[in-house]
Amino acid sequence: MPASSSAKHKKPNNIRRAEIIGWGMYAPTHVVSNDEIAKTLDTSDEWIRSRTGIASRHLASAQETTSQMAVAAARAALSSADEDPHHIDLIIVGTATPDYLLASTACQVQNALGATRAGAFDLGAGCSGFVYALAVGQQAIASGECELVLVIGADTLSRTVDWRDRATCILFGDGAGAVLLRAAQGSGGVLSTVLGADGSGSEMLYIPAGGSAMPPNADTYQNGMHFLKMNGGEVYRFATRILVESAENAVKKAGLEMSEINLIIPHQANSRIIESAAKRMNLPMERFVINLQEYGNTSAASIPIALCEALAAKRIQPGDNLLLVGFGAGLTWAAAVVRWSVAPAGAQPSYRDIWRWLIYGTARVRSRLRLLTIRSIRIIDQRADKTGKTG
Ligand code: UT7
Repeated sequence: MPASSSAKHKKPNNIRRAEIIGWGMYAPTHVVSNDEIAKTLDTSDEWIRSRTGIASRHLASAQETTSQMAVAAARAALSSADEDPHHIDLIIVGTATPDYLLASTACQVQNALGATRAGAFDLGAGCSGFVYALAVGQQAIASGECELVLVIGADTLSRTVDWRDRATCILFGDGAGAVLLRAAQGSGGVLSTVLGADGSGSEMLYIPAGGSAMPPNADTYQNGMHFLKMNGGEVYRFATRILVESAENAVKKAGLEMSEINLIIPHQANSRIIESAAKRMNLPMERFVINLQEYGNTSAASIPIALCEALAAKRIQPGDNLLLVGFGAGLTWAAAVVRWSVAPAGAQPSYRDIWRWLIYGTARVRSRLRLLTIRSIRIIDQRADKTGKTG
């Protein structure tokens, strides 16, 4: 058999790297079709479908937050890997829509999971957030620092778009996806990652107010500066170029040829962007996972949600080479080649699920007690202050 032209780049098998051992997703149950949006906005199902490929999106209810969706996806990932939250070393949440500016969403997740040994932080790289987080998780494992890392992409962009702006609000949906990474020394796992950024394009896709550059005030609210702003055409041109470039770089870095990639999971922004990339790379569309017709653009959640759906549809088998590629606000881009190494788990013994629910329940009780104690101390302090002043 002739040696592959990439053979000299092949990575040795005994490198310590991260392997995906668990995965999970969450999408809110409330689904909004294009027709429903067209009832209140000057748009149409035909325009949205033909320009973007999107037919519907899942939107968070008023009670749902980014961290709650992230927790649901993380619990599903822990369950599919049959892992214990106490064993997690690090939690990274890629998100552009955290519950709070301070503290991090990752800490909310850590608390809800009862992941008492884990460090936790958010990673801001827009829609590239999940692949960025995957790259950081891989590096934390490869360095020997961590054994088990939870990587999540979660966003609630429906809260940041102006629902009167037809050029942006029709694009986005809400959701979360998670993977659990474990240190491994076989031939599977994350083979390569490529990260990139071009901050000169930050105003192509951004939320001007609410940060230190433009703190919130009456004017910023009145002028709609807290809404997401996007130059759609510019982002489109950037996306079609960078998707191909970063994908090719990641494949080369993994020591593979594009023909050796079994499945490409791109950021789900617009089916025309993916079709254009497929054409440029001379690849059939069947090689790509596309589910944006149902979910719209769920930002950092789009790639892990698409990964979970591809697994559920049995489109991924052990030994397959996957290419994940994202792009988004920053501007940022990120690509990763993953050799799939885990057979989908069979039915879990139910006592293991009960054990995990006990951990989650204990974490909830611990968290409530802590909150109650802090609030009680605050009330006692305030009363003591008042008595001091009037006494
Ligand atoms: O995660 C990364 C996030 N963002 C992206 O990836 C977005 C990348 N960009 C895109 O996907 C596309 O640029 C859009 C889907 C946002 C827009 O598609 P387009 O083909 O570039 O449309 P356009 O902005 O050039 O607008 C064409 C026309 C305009 O009307 P005029 O000026 O030609 O009369 C728009 O006002 O379509 C109009 N338009 C709409 N019409 C009906 C814009 N949005 C809508 C709408 N319904 N929702």
